[in-house]
Amino acid sequence: MKAQQNALLTQVGPQSACGQLLRLYWQPIALVDEFDPRLDPKMQDRPVKSVRVFGEDLVLFKNQAGQFGLLDKHCAHRGVDLSFARYEGNGLRCPFHGWKFDVSGTCLDTPAEPTGSRLKEHVTQRHYPVIEKAGVIFAWMGPANQTPPDFPKFDCFEAPTSHSFAFKGRWNANWLQAFEVGIDPAHPSFLHRFLNDEDLQNIGDNDAGKQFRSASAGEIGGQKWPMTKIMREFCQPSISFESKPYGMEITSLRRMNESLTHVRVTQSIFPATFVIPLSESLTITQFHVPVDDEHTYWYSFFTSFDKPLNKEAMREQRLQFISLPDYIPKSGAHNRWGFNAKEQVEQTYLGMGEEDINVHDQWAVESMGAIQDRTQEHLGTSDVLIMANRRVLLKAIEDSQNGAPAPGVSSSSIANMRFGPDTVDGVAPTEQWSDWWRAQVQRKQEACKWLDPSSATS
Ligand code: FES
Ligand SMILES: [Fe+2]
Repeated sequence: MKAQQNALLTQVGPQSACGQLLRLYWQPIALVDEFDPRLDPKMQDRPVKSVRVFGEDLVLFKNQAGQFGLLDKHCAHRGVDLSFARYEGNGLRCPFHGWKFDVSGTCLDTPAEPTGSRLKEHVTQRHYPVIEKAGVIFAWMGPANQTPPDFPKFDCFEAPTSHSFAFKGRWNANWLQAFEVGIDPAHPSFLHRFLNDEDLQNIGDNDAGKQFRSASAGEIGGQKWPMTKIMREFCQPSISFESKPYGMEITSLRRMNESLTHVRVTQSIFPATFVIPLSESLTITQFHVPVDDEHTYWYSFFTSFDKPLNKEAMREQRLQFISLPDYIPKSGAHNRWGFNAKEQVEQTYLGMGEEDINVHDQWAVESMGAIQDRTQEHLGTSDVLIMANRRVLLKAIEDSQNGAPAPGVSSSSIANMRFGPDTVDGVAPTEQWSDWWRAQVQRKQEACKWLDPSSATS
């Protein structure tokens, strides 16, 4: 890749072509949990937060009616930082001259102006539309003269609160390498390899950190196999992908013997979201949102198609590895991501722990450097999807700069379609893997109590 292309794909500020494209999609900017005083006591009296996204500094607050507002950090009067504003329940009041703004940026008061002044009628604080979905606040940061698309109807947003859990974490690296690690179907065979298997009886659906420990669907010689054992023993997947209106459906086949093939179907939702199976009834949908060119937040949505989730337990489990209130991982470059050379010999391929596989991905993302130098890499056959994703992204950037509509769910007609998108991880009869995985998805959907039975899948 040429240096110029790498810059085009990785720069996200307001003037950048890629940044302008990414702003056309609803993007997660905070967890609703961040406003919960049990997790952040400061929120009890003053539910106001600084938020940095796409290199822009903003202020997010919740009014007394429970509505969220996302305002530009700089006061429309003379530019001071509104994250220091006085919280007044129905709006934020700037401490410099007392101007007050509500969640929609409307100026409610300009107290230093002469009585009868109509100045406030001509002032609006710059702001962005927000929407709350599945425990997360999303913003749309497209041009002020355009209306946002409808919010996409993915399964993770349709599930009832009891069946969905959201969490996030910050990585010190560019958004694209975070996403490229996530969609890479070859890496679980290595990066997440456990050298020993855990008893499948010990794995519960709420073990959020135990990805790949769960059983793959289907049986081998009358036995269930953990995903990790299959990934370890069959490490040369045949990777293919199919274009979909929302992005790409990715199929990774691992031929186990004459009659059985391991099938893993994952999804890539343009521009920076993947959907992967965590178990037969649980998926993770993960967004990657730039803080700026060199930092990224991932937002994971855990969705259960079966039992309700034990959200408290899932949160507790994750909070062992992440510091509040900004969701910064406790491991990182400063402590070499917890690397343990003995563990690398005896327990795991990487040597960075078994309990939180998120740190494995964090190491892969961050150790490349803040912005990976893609002019120096050497891609192989197993990188076919990484290459395809870059082509799609470069074309979308180029097309949107030329005035063409951005792809996927930036358009309401596609956002309103129901796709799932569906995933599977299982062992199928080699000749019928394609029918097998569709049947597997159908079974999951029919057993699901909250899924609308009329919802079509792709
Ligand atoms: S700068 Fe905010 S009121 Fe003057
Ligand atoms: Fe991973």
